[in-house]
Amino acid sequence: MLNIKNLSAGYGEMPVLKDINITIAQGDIVSVVGSNGAGKSTLLKAISGLITSKGTITYNNESLHALAAHTIVQRGIIHVPEGRKIFPEMSVVENLIMGGYLHPKDRKGNMERVFALFPKLADRRNQLGGTMSGGEQQMLAIGRGLMGNPKLLLLDEPSLGLSPLFTEVVFNAIQSINKSGVTVLLVEQNVYQSLKISNKGYVIEIGSIVLTGTGEELLNNQDVKKAFLGM
Ligand SMILES: Nc1ncnc2c1ncn2[C@@H]1O[C@H](COP(=O)(O)OP(=O)(O)OP(=O)(O)O)[C@@H](O)[C@H]1O
Ligand SMILES: [Mg+2]
Repeated sequence: MLNIKNLSAGYGEMPVLKDINITIAQGDIVSVVGSNGAGKSTLLKAISGLITSKGTITYNNESLHALAAHTIVQRGIIHVPEGRKIFPEMSVVENLIMGGYLHPKDRKGNMERVFALFPKLADRRNQLGGTMSGGEQQMLAIGRGLMGNPKLLLLDEPSLGLSPLFTEVVFNAIQSINKSGVTVLLVEQNVYQSLKISNKGYVIEIGSIVLTGTGEELLNNQDVKKAFLGM
């Protein structure tokens, strides 16, 4: 589905990603884990066309480098950014409508789907986004992403700053979104939870992939245990 070869990217003169190779098969949950500043968000921005990059990114055999960010969204690659970035002055429903602007015909069905996944959003449908708690805003950010009919969902640190309870809600939601047919690329610092639900994982360190394997293989890897799991 998504093939990344020899990808490099950065900001101005500063290189961040070096020679990244990642393959995502349709239906998978793939996670990219690594410490702060490793380049995880930069990778998602390169895929969704928010920054320029070198190398190749092909999605269903089409080069994403040839496409503008808004066209990449139309292809079904939906980016849920780090830090939620919901619209604070808009209600829950209005935030969801914004996420579904390309698919007005699907709006009602998609909104029902989001409310079924996150009943709390249904209870709070008229509340302003900015007044929601961190965990509720994360649900809203994911819900807004789902309104865009994702085929490939890019999730940037969905569990960051959440309580254990909300973290569980979010990871369960990711699994159920995946079961409904959406391929997921998950970027996380919560290494244990991410690898546990992933078919495949990559460890990124200072802009390079240093390790790859199935989620289970990486969870049992000594270096991963030492670096990320405190074992
Ligand atoms: N807009 C920007 N301009 C310049 N440098 C940036 C910009 N955004 C990120 N960087 C730098 O690029 C590097 C990688 O950042 P990135 O946000 O991709 O890391 P990350 O793995 O997502 O980290 P975190 O876990 O903290 O979110 C960092 O050194 C960061 O300072
Ligand atoms: Mg980041």
